Amino acid sequence: MKIMAIESSCDETAVSIVEDGRNVLTDCIASQVELHRIYGGVVPEIASRKHIEAIYGLADQALEKAGVSRQELDAVAVTYAPGLIGAVLVGVNFAKAVALSLNKPLIPVHHIRGHIAANYIAYPELKPPFLCLVVSGGHTMIVDVKDYTDMSILGTTLDDAAGECFDKVARVLGMPYPGGAALDKMAVGGDETHYNLPRARAGENPYDMSFSGLKTAALNLIHHAEQVGEELNIPDLCAGFSAAVSDTLIPRMVMAVKETGYKHVAVAGGVAANSRIRGDMNRAMEELGVQVYMPPLSLCGDNAAMIGSQAYYEYLAGNVADMSLNAYATKSILGETL
Ligand code: KG4
Ligand code: ZN
Repeated sequence: MKIMAIESSCDETAVSIVEDGRNVLTDCIASQVELHRIYGGVVPEIASRKHIEAIYGLADQALEKAGVSRQELDAVAVTYAPGLIGAVLVGVNFAKAVALSLNKPLIPVHHIRGHIAANYIAYPELKPPFLCLVVSGGHTMIVDVKDYTDMSILGTTLDDAAGECFDKVARVLGMPYPGGAALDKMAVGGDETHYNLPRARAGENPYDMSFSGLKTAALNLIHHAEQVGEELNIPDLCAGFSAAVSDTLIPRMVMAVKETGYKHVAVAGGVAANSRIRGDMNRAMEELGVQVYMPPLSLCGDNAAMIGSQAYYEYLAGNVADMSLNAYATKSILGETL
């Protein structure tokens, strides 16, 4: 089954054609990152406009690169939530138009379910059930992936997402948007013990997390140094910050593995590209004798291939939409409108 998948929830316009959920025939991305960089973050109105400009050409390009005709498509899938509402709407309206004109099924895909599915592309042998650590720009949670479309959330951040904090600290340090990857690079060789950064506990659910205290502590440290004219050791600070994020995530995954008894663990989302988190996760799971799956860096960030992969399983589960499909800025991975 060949699915054309469309992703436009943030600052990447992407169109992919994926066969049977696992075989990526083509994955085309038009990134807007350079455009938003001068503003230090995504400007929603600019993002929507650029999606409109890019999406038609990109869809044609995807068909051409895959060597697939419009009629050979079996369905059209689209990220319908969550994201910047104007940006998500562009993809949803385009997908509806394609589905209607070609008379093909329309499959709505939750963006975070897509991030999890990036692992299905990278690892053809991976099948639910498994535990997944989702770490993106807007989400941080531990998901019990019981089946392809049956999930539950063990824990979540109660305030900021990990990626948001990486970006904020990087921005204050003068790194270009999105700063997570730059901060990660800067941390290499840094002494993580130099600056004392907090590892917060959050609420009653031991799997819940909090990052706002860590973010504030790092920002205060930077601003204080500026005020008193002290020169900060940037690699040490970046290493300390990355370690604090990882120390918040990994022990909770260890706890979840021990409690659930799962033997397979995956990581998903843009922050899954972080070298510290990848290294710590590998070490911790090796000690437990648990198999770890992490998408290659190219599949960690936003792309449409992951949407096409999840779409196949949504289709098999009967999750198709009609022309009344709407876009949502927020929606839980379980499908509840927040
Ligand atoms: O999943 P994603 O592409 O978009 C959302 O769905 O939110 O995640 C983007 C986030 C950004 O915050 C970016 O800075 C972060 O992923 N990121 C990283 C790294 N690469 C990307 N954060 C830490 N270390 C990295 N190497
Ligand atoms: Zn994403």
